[in-house]
Amino acid sequence: MLFDVVCLAALLPLALSASVAVTDIQGPAFVSPYSGKKFASGFWIAGTANGDTRVSNGLYVYTTSTTVLAKVAVGYNITLSGTVSEYRSSSDPFDLYGTELESPTSIVVNSQNNTITPVVIGKDRIPPTQLLSALDVGADGYLSVPNGASNLTTINATLVPATYGIDFWESLEGQLVTVPGPIVVDFPDYYGDIWVHGDWPVPGKNSRGGLTMINGTNGLPTGNPGMILIGDPLDGTKNPSVSVGTNLSDISGPIIFQYGYFYLLPTTAPTVKATPTTTIPASNITSSTSDCTLTLGDYNIDNFGPKATQLPAVATHIAKYLNTPDLVFLQEIQDNSGETDDGTVSANTTLSNLVAAISAAGGAFTYSYIDIDPINDQDGGVPGGNIRQAYLWNPQKISLVPGSPVGGSLDATAVATDSNGDLTLTYNPGRIDPANAAWNASRKPLVAAWETPKGNRFFTVNLQLTAKLDSTTLEANPRPPINAFVDQRTSQVEVISTFVNTILEKDSSASIIVGGDCNEYLYTRSVFAPLISVLTDIDSLAGIPVEERYTYIYDGQTEQLDHLFVSSSIASRPVAAQHIHVNNWATSLATRASDHDPTVAQLQVC
Ligand SMILES: *[C@@H]1O[C@H](CO)[C@@H](O)[C@H](O)[C@H]1NC(C)=O
Ligand SMILES: *[C@@H]1O[C@H](CO)[C@@H](O)[C@H](O)[C@H]1NC(C)=O
Ligand SMILES: *[C@@H]1O[C@H](CO)[C@@H](O)[C@H](O)[C@H]1NC(C)=O
Ligand SMILES: *[C@@H]1O[C@H](CO)[C@@H](O)[C@H](O)[C@H]1NC(C)=O
Ligand SMILES: *[C@@H]1O[C@H](CO)[C@@H](O)[C@H](O)[C@H]1NC(C)=O
Ligand SMILES: *[C@@H]1O[C@H](CO)[C@@H](O)[C@H](O)[C@H]1NC(C)=O
Ligand SMILES: *[C@@H]1O[C@H](CO)[C@@H](O)[C@H](O)[C@H]1NC(C)=O
Ligand SMILES: *[C@@H]1O[C@H](CO)[C@@H](O)[C@H](O)[C@H]1NC(C)=O
Ligand SMILES: *[C@@H]1O[C@H](CO)[C@@H](O)[C@H](O)[C@H]1NC(C)=O
Repeated sequence: MLFDVVCLAALLPLALSASVAVTDIQGPAFVSPYSGKKFASGFWIAGTANGDTRVSNGLYVYTTSTTVLAKVAVGYNITLSGTVSEYRSSSDPFDLYGTELESPTSIVVNSQNNTITPVVIGKDRIPPTQLLSALDVGADGYLSVPNGASNLTTINATLVPATYGIDFWESLEGQLVTVPGPIVVDFPDYYGDIWVHGDWPVPGKNSRGGLTMINGTNGLPTGNPGMILIGDPLDGTKNPSVSVGTNLSDISGPIIFQYGYFYLLPTTAPTVKATPTTTIPASNITSSTSDCTLTLGDYNIDNFGPKATQLPAVATHIAKYLNTPDLVFLQEIQDNSGETDDGTVSANTTLSNLVAAISAAGGAFTYSYIDIDPINDQDGGVPGGNIRQAYLWNPQKISLVPGSPVGGSLDATAVATDSNGDLTLTYNPGRIDPANAAWNASRKPLVAAWETPKGNRFFTVNLQLTAKLDSTTLEANPRPPINAFVDQRTSQVEVISTFVNTILEKDSSASIIVGGDCNEYLYTRSVFAPLISVLTDIDSLAGIPVEERYTYIYDGQTEQLDHLFVSSSIASRPVAAQHIHVNNWATSLATRASDHDPTVAQLQVC
């Protein structure tokens, strides 16, 4: 026997080949119930537990030898030899390693028909509820900067499974476990894998059944370590089609680390026990005839081109679920040639198609629209798409403050005082400091000055900050996990905050609304600090319960990337806001119109 159970508690590559007796180290081994047909070639074995919850008594045995595989079957008590290896399922340098026994030989079957008792999660072992790793140091927990400051495998700390989620799942690597009462918390991924939690305490449970990122009782954002990804069933069955809130039958199988995550590989596919309602409530916020009362929508409509397949759905969402807000902040409007990279930058066809579709979907009026074309291929996003923000508004309700030209791609707008002594913009709408390095390969914020029929003015900033593409998974080796482009988002928020302050310096009671797709959580406080010092997040003003503050789902967590912030004058008046889950409550990924949910709010702008 050539393996050492101690290695199961470590997170580093081992080049270990000490010859040790199975009874000394892991106890006589059972063949697990799984023959590794899907995951790879091999099988799992379970030794006698040694009473130390840091140490798994299960292990994956890798072999492609049909001779070896023919010798073992579920419930066999065997003795075997092999070499311990720490391996990676992918070439991703940020992945943790999996522990396995390779090149098994000398297989002796001692007995048959033994039973293997799974570890029942939630009963025998309870996942921690908040922290992912002891190495996630900093004021914002796992969202702290700097990130990628250390690697689990380099530090090689002893596992603390009761406190840290990664340690918890690592301590069960190779172990046969059962997840009782699984509830799905995300749509299946591309491979049909499903995030679930089972019947154990989890923070951030929302009304749909998902798990929202919230502050834990320790005041740090929860990493939701109680979730586990269910991989491809080992017996060749297929996981069912599910959505957020689907209840499944109990799931049993071994825990492994692969492709950036801890997985449970089910011995067989679970069945659906209950599905949540397909009815998605529309907003009850409606437009008002009052001069000062503004309804506001905010929606990232996901790479929306002139021929977008999601056009009818998005139009219905705005007309019927958001009740045609007086003003809509849109993000990800593509140019008139969509993703064809032909130098086209104008998006007037894309926007006029959308406006017509909203009317056709029963919208109460015909929207006016405006945007500013980017310089071709300079604002990031899908190549050739030239995505940008745009405004739709009800021309009977509000209008752009007249008297200033519409800004071009490179024009920096500034706050100015008009001949009546009222605040306006030098370009309306205009872009904020478009030459600033913070906007490299990213969308420039679209600023506008508006007035009501009675001449009351307010300002808006519609933004889409740089995305998190290339971030590591929450269960990756670098700690805190790498939050890609966090420094750029921080710089972008600083530039926007500086601009907002130029308005407030001229009029501290100015009505200002800033928001859109921030591609960041408010729990990453380092990013939002300069904005939060002058503006207030409307979710808190509207009193939305923290579990219900979400517009996005990623890797099993429901979370909020889309935010609206208002100046103190608006914050001092009544505020209503709702996230309308037209997409994240969909019955399948394929039926979503966008990866983001829209938000609707009602504000008093004067
Ligand atoms: C990692 O930790 C394990 C368990 O404590 C220990 O046996 C091993 O020597 C350590 N390896 C390194 C490289 O630090
Ligand atoms: C496997 O069989 C051996 C005897 O051959 C026995 O000593 C050992 O306890 C068995 N293992 C388990 C986990 O039951
Ligand atoms: C194992 O169980 C099967 C079915 O229950 C039975 O047919 C077989 O004889 C048993 N084998 C041994 C060695 O007891
Ligand atoms: C962590 O590991 C990655 C991948 O090997 C490496 O690029 C990075 O420099 C390491 N970080 C630290 C702090 O050692
Ligand atoms: C989360 O906790 C931080 C630190 O105490 C705090 O600043 C922040 O406002 C909290 N967020 C929410 C939504 O309660
Ligand atoms: C799923 O199970 C949970 C826990 O028992 C329950 O609260 C929830 O209502 C169930 N969901 C459905 C759709 O039945
Ligand atoms: C909308 O419904 C919520 C409850 O879901 C209620 O608290 C709120 O008062 C309603 N708002 C309006 C404007 O009717
Ligand atoms: C788009 O703008 C171009 C150039 O100003 C104009 O010729 C065209 O009619 C516009 N298309 C629509 C749908 O408004
Ligand atoms: C601008 O962003 C692109 C794409 O992320 C990157 O390749 C380039 O290095 C950046 N340039 C500067 C000056 O930061």
